Amino acid sequence: MKPWGGRFTAASDPSAERFTASIGFDRRLWPHDIAGSIAWARALARAGLVTAGERDAMVRGLEAVRGELERGEFPFRAELEDIHMNIERRLAELIGPPAGKLHTGRSRNDQIALDERLYLRDVTVHLADGIREVQTALLDRAADSVDVPMPGYTHLQRAQPIVLAHHLLAYVFMLHRDRERFRDGAARADMLPLGAGALAGTAFPIDREALARDLGFAGVTWNSLDAVSDRDYVVEFLAAAAITGMHLSRLAADLTLWATAEFGFVEFSDAFATGSSIMPQKKNPDVAELTRGKSGRLYGNLVAVLTTMKGLPLAYNSDMQEDKEPFFDSVDTLGAILDVFPPMLRSLGFRVDRMRAAAGEDFSTATDLADYLVRKGLPFREAHEVVGRVVRHAIDHGLALEAVPVDDLRRFSPLIEADVREAITVEASLRARSVTGGTAPDSVRRTLDVARRLVAS
Ligand code: ARG
Repeated sequence: MKPWGGRFTAASDPSAERFTASIGFDRRLWPHDIAGSIAWARALARAGLVTAGERDAMVRGLEAVRGELERGEFPFRAELEDIHMNIERRLAELIGPPAGKLHTGRSRNDQIALDERLYLRDVTVHLADGIREVQTALLDRAADSVDVPMPGYTHLQRAQPIVLAHHLLAYVFMLHRDRERFRDGAARADMLPLGAGALAGTAFPIDREALARDLGFAGVTWNSLDAVSDRDYVVEFLAAAAITGMHLSRLAADLTLWATAEFGFVEFSDAFATGSSIMPQKKNPDVAELTRGKSGRLYGNLVAVLTTMKGLPLAYNSDMQEDKEPFFDSVDTLGAILDVFPPMLRSLGFRVDRMRAAAGEDFSTATDLADYLVRKGLPFREAHEVVGRVVRHAIDHGLALEAVPVDDLRRFSPLIEADVREAITVEASLRARSVTGGTAPDSVRRTLDVARRLVAS
């Protein structure tokens, strides 16, 4: 029997029942649904709508239902559509008539908005902790690589030397913004929707502020239509998850590239790689590749909910039930990435000799030669031109920049003297970039301290 049996004369078609049921996925909201119902029972008693005895029966009954759910003994029924009706029906079976008063002045429309906001609060804390674990692993690897030169790239062409720690710390700062995004979204969602009823507000004298305090919300929603039709909190969450996924996907892409024979900058631990079923020699960076791949799901989930919401007239529409699978999938997908990343990062073998050797190749200190000329008084545009000709000359003679004799360099500019040798080493190039946020080891050490404080905050 459906809760709406009174108006209906015919039973649901089984195909319609299967089609409309959400219990297969919204069951994960049970802890929040029960917490919300317990608080609602108390609010009903405070409003004089149920007696203290009825309230206690409901609370005890809901706690018994919670016990069944915890022990995996709860009888889920698809014909009861969703988690809300499943729990209410079970409560009625356990405590009888008082259960019939629980839904007084409440609708599944404000109930689901409540459950989702409570769930969001929990998963946000969990995912933010996971992001912090990734940051901590990166920080630890960065602390050991402040003095490891490597090539920095633009256009994926060797550009200027940097240190490995600088590259790793870039991701720590991206992930810091991600944590802020999750936190900001959760703060905006921190308003109680319960009391909105189906759409127009409950008709009973519910003290919503007291209810908000009971459930740990900072405040109450101000418009009942908005309260039941808003899914911004899901969209913002999915956007934060998509952006985090994008950042981790880029890190995964860096590592995948670095693990190629062509780069040879890292070796994945066997524990975080897989082999080939046919090629005995293969070692594939699957964890990194799948991270890159799963970022696509995170984007898809965001776009799915945005698209579902865009044409919906106010207030509640059943379309909104479609928010849950993308929402939950992003929680699970990002959670899985955040689980595997810290141990994977900690077990990476950095091939610092290869990085160091590559850092000085391909004229990576050509900008430093131009800067040297600027320090001797040449306008930068002229210095750029001069060094461009030097590079052309070196390429034509098959020489590295440092291998061009000083006398030959002087043919391009009389400003060049013997001290140029020292000015175009990788170490000098790094040391010069001591600006705040630059790659000079001393700057990176200061930045590392800043990053540590941000991660601890
Ligand atoms: N299962 C529904 C959802 O997820 C709960 C709200 C249903 N309300 C309704 N009037 N059908 O959105």
